[in-house]
Amino acid sequence: MAGSAPVRVGFLGAGLIATYHSKMIRRSGLDVERAGVHDPDGARAAAFAAASGHRVCPGPDEVIETCDAVYICAWTSEHLPLARRAAAAGKAVFCEKPLATTLNGAEELAGIVAAAGVVNQVGLVLRHSPAFRVARALVADPAAGRVMAVVFRDDQFIPVQGHYGSTWRGDVARAGSGTLLEHSIHDVDMLEYLAGPVASVSARSAEFHAIAGIEDAVTASLGFAGGAIGTLASVWHDNLARPSLRRVEAFCERRHVVIDGDDWTGPVSWTDADATVGHLQGEALAEEAAGIDGLEANPDRAFLEAVAAGRSAHPDVSVALRAHRVVAAIYESAAGGGAAVGCAP
Ligand SMILES: NC(=O)c1ccc[n+]([C@@H]2O[C@H](COP(=O)([O-])OP(=O)(O)OC[C@H]3O[C@@H](n4cnc5c(N)ncnc54)[C@H](O)[C@@H]3O)[C@@H](O)[C@H]2O)c1
Repeated sequence: MAGSAPVRVGFLGAGLIATYHSKMIRRSGLDVERAGVHDPDGARAAAFAAASGHRVCPGPDEVIETCDAVYICAWTSEHLPLARRAAAAGKAVFCEKPLATTLNGAEELAGIVAAAGVVNQVGLVLRHSPAFRVARALVADPAAGRVMAVVFRDDQFIPVQGHYGSTWRGDVARAGSGTLLEHSIHDVDMLEYLAGPVASVSARSAEFHAIAGIEDAVTASLGFAGGAIGTLASVWHDNLARPSLRRVEAFCERRHVVIDGDDWTGPVSWTDADATVGHLQGEALAEEAAGIDGLEANPDRAFLEAVAAGRSAHPDVSVALRAHRVVAAIYESAAGGGAAVGCAP
């Protein structure tokens, strides 16, 4: 990027998450140049361009030529070929999660992007969530004692319906698999963020919707390297009243911490052994998080500021690759009927 000219931003994919990022860029107030957008669904590309000020390009290479930083927001199977093109052109990359449909693909993508030396960030946006940042600080506080156990539940209606209406999430070739990879890769990342590296897993999965290769219920029992244990339950049901809900409880020796309600704005509540209780939500939670680590809460602002400054962004492909490794261990265990599988970093 030359001098202090606005970062030129392009989009590959013009669906739900591209629209979210575009809005977050607008909300950031950053001075960016809206460059190209490509989506094989021409109507989607046109609607996105009309709403955001991007210009429609006939293919990915034309988008990549127009920009300094490119958002890869296509369905999952397209991330690797698109990232390969962007990295070859030396452009900064924001790649949505999951990186790829398989662990091998994720390794390849992470390797290509890292070798190209381009600024990169991934869509594991909960790393920027005030709720998780405050919960992590509460758990890491020496006054809490050691973390003993974490209970993580994530459920949403299967997103081939409702406002997602995305048929590709029911297609193993494009999605890779179901609720664990497509959705709960966030949760796996947050479990390690809260309680440290997972050393081994034992898991079960089910396919209630009978969509080949798309599991819709997963439970995993986790052993953390630090001695804690945990459980993850990830469910894609048909209850359209529950679009996406998480509840996380961390039990430390002398503190209990809960994230409930909204996984960004909280509330986060805690109870200590001396009966002290705390509760933070919304603005107060965001202020507390900023005081802890100074991290920018808007992931898109963080990425584009890193691009403008030519410094590394967070979380990058290495963070996503680690989450893919734990996800792969969970699938391996489930395929083996729950046998323990190691996944120490
Ligand atoms: N970080 C998050 O919280 C989060 C949330 C939602 C989706 N995602 C991820 O974002 C990706 C897209 O999901 P979505 O919900 O926006 O899906 P979507 O169906 O709304 O949009 C995907 C778009 O990609 C387009 N596309 C397909 N191949 C393409 C190509 N080669 N080049 C350009 N565009 C192409 C499709 O036509 C479609 O319009 C998925 O990998 C998904 O897992 C992440």
